[in-house]
Amino acid sequence: MYRSHNCGELRESHVGNEVILSGWVHRTRDKGFVAWVDLRDRYGITQLVFDEDRTSSELLERAKKLGREFVVQVNGTVIERASKNPKMPTGNIEVLVAGLQVLNESMTPPFTLEDETDGGEDLRMKYRYLDIRRNPVKNNLIFRSRVTMEVRKYLSDQGFIEVETPYLIKSTPEGARDFVVPSRMNEGQFYALPQSPQTFKQLLMVGGLDKYFQIVKCFRDEDLRADRQPEFTQIDCEMAFVEQEDILNAFEGLTKHVLKEVNGVEIEKFPRMTYDEAMKKYGNDKPDIRFGMEFGELNDVAQHKDFEVFNTADLIVGIAVPGANSHTRKEIDALVDWVRRPQIGAKGMVYVRCNDDGSYKSSVDRFYDQSDLAKWAEATGANPGDLICVLSGDAHKVRAQLSALRMEMATRLGLRKADEFAPLWVIDFPLLEWDADTGNYHAMHHPFTSPKPGQLELLETDPGAVRANAYDLVLNGNEIGGGSIRIHDREVQRTMFEHLGFSAEQAQAQFGFLMDAFQYGAPPHGGIAFGLDRLVAILGGQETIRDFIAFPKNNSGRDVMIDAPAPIDEAQLKELNLKLDIQS
Ligand code: AMO
Repeated sequence: MYRSHNCGELRESHVGNEVILSGWVHRTRDKGFVAWVDLRDRYGITQLVFDEDRTSSELLERAKKLGREFVVQVNGTVIERASKNPKMPTGNIEVLVAGLQVLNESMTPPFTLEDETDGGEDLRMKYRYLDIRRNPVKNNLIFRSRVTMEVRKYLSDQGFIEVETPYLIKSTPEGARDFVVPSRMNEGQFYALPQSPQTFKQLLMVGGLDKYFQIVKCFRDEDLRADRQPEFTQIDCEMAFVEQEDILNAFEGLTKHVLKEVNGVEIEKFPRMTYDEAMKKYGNDKPDIRFGMEFGELNDVAQHKDFEVFNTADLIVGIAVPGANSHTRKEIDALVDWVRRPQIGAKGMVYVRCNDDGSYKSSVDRFYDQSDLAKWAEATGANPGDLICVLSGDAHKVRAQLSALRMEMATRLGLRKADEFAPLWVIDFPLLEWDADTGNYHAMHHPFTSPKPGQLELLETDPGAVRANAYDLVLNGNEIGGGSIRIHDREVQRTMFEHLGFSAEQAQAQFGFLMDAFQYGAPPHGGIAFGLDRLVAILGGQETIRDFIAFPKNNSGRDVMIDAPAPIDEAQLKELNLKLDIQS
């Protein structure tokens, strides 16, 4: 038997018990005639004591030689500690060791395995298995497991069945590039790894399974960011005989359940906002509504004066930053520089100080008097003590720029509180999005999304205006889920492919199987997929999903621990009938 107890469970009630523990040597303290060893496992740390009088000097000498991260087994007696440590759950006791066995030695780890480590990101990624021994990483993985279990429990209780779908498939159009896998048995042919199980879950509805879910890996070859990994996990769901309202209710239920069970937070009803409203009020389709700073459009009150910059602008829009009138001139200049950085791309920023006495002082006082500025304050909801920041230019760009500024100011002012949760449904997304690069419309969600009732005709006349039965679930400014009611009619699906620029042949080659299935009684259906990594990170009070993935990729898509991707040898290439022709 390796252990009678784990390293986190012994208490004063165990005093006098004979126990066996196994774990890693976290730390040793050598005082000459006595040595203490902190023994660690997943469950905690227990202090072991070796001393000349009560243990043998031979055992004491062996204990002193133990190195960090040695794997050991000890047996001994639980005794009360002379100096207790109230910070540790096991801090009232220690184990007086009678026997010590080294199960495995360890090299000295390349960084300290403490909560605050001296190891940089790259080093910790290379030795991820050591990083996982540290509490912050280990606790994130345990947290992820709890969330996943709650999701499974809830969906299963609601009658969803978990079905696995294949990984070696054909391209699914979710908007990213595919990872491809060459087929040895089918020369010159490739599988694509799924960007999502989208088409399969629709086929499961045609198959009559009614309520499906799957906690599933998805693969997307796209630029990586803090909230994106090339392989990530979805909670993928689909239901038959549902309308948008049914889906929103079902998955609001799931999200509420997880928030309650995992975070102890109860939220009555999730607010809803149309895409158009979100863009107008926050310049963003995934607004963080934990704080205000809603956009105030100023065209009506700021144009037709002598300020040419505004007169020629498509949109003039501002936010009132609470309490920011206390900013010095230097701080405001730094803010102007911030919005002019290439990543944000604003040309400049006009500002208005809202003084405590109700007067205003702006950077454009030459053109606007107090009554003009009072109107700006009204439009942006500014109060005395606030700073109004105004950007202008092309409507689409300026909304994105002000949205970035709004988030930055909220971060600086501490308004993005990690333990506060503000979910939001964003609904009525446009069906299509104009892609200037290709000169084509493409599906904003994916090509299987249905237009809102009665809008099919608009496809012919004003495609950009068509709204879809598509929705996103936003949590604290992050898109944690998205879905839609699907097209279930073969003809409508055919028309959609046509509008997306697929020829009949291309549509048949790529999605013929789905169109064929629709000929055999496809029920009305719809669904959603949550980004599990994102959901877990946000519930855990963070936004970097890497910290909640056991073995993540770095920003260049590499696994630096196993060193992948890597070249394959000639023989393997030959077997796959592949020839590399890389120009150096
Ligand atoms: P969508 O593409 O919106 O929808 O993806 C669903 C959710 O998955 C998460 N997500 C990601 N998480 C981490 N890394 C990535 N690279 C990444 N890409 C997406 C997001 C997102 O909201 N088949 C549809 C769903 C449906 O219509 O039912 C789909 O995949 O949180």
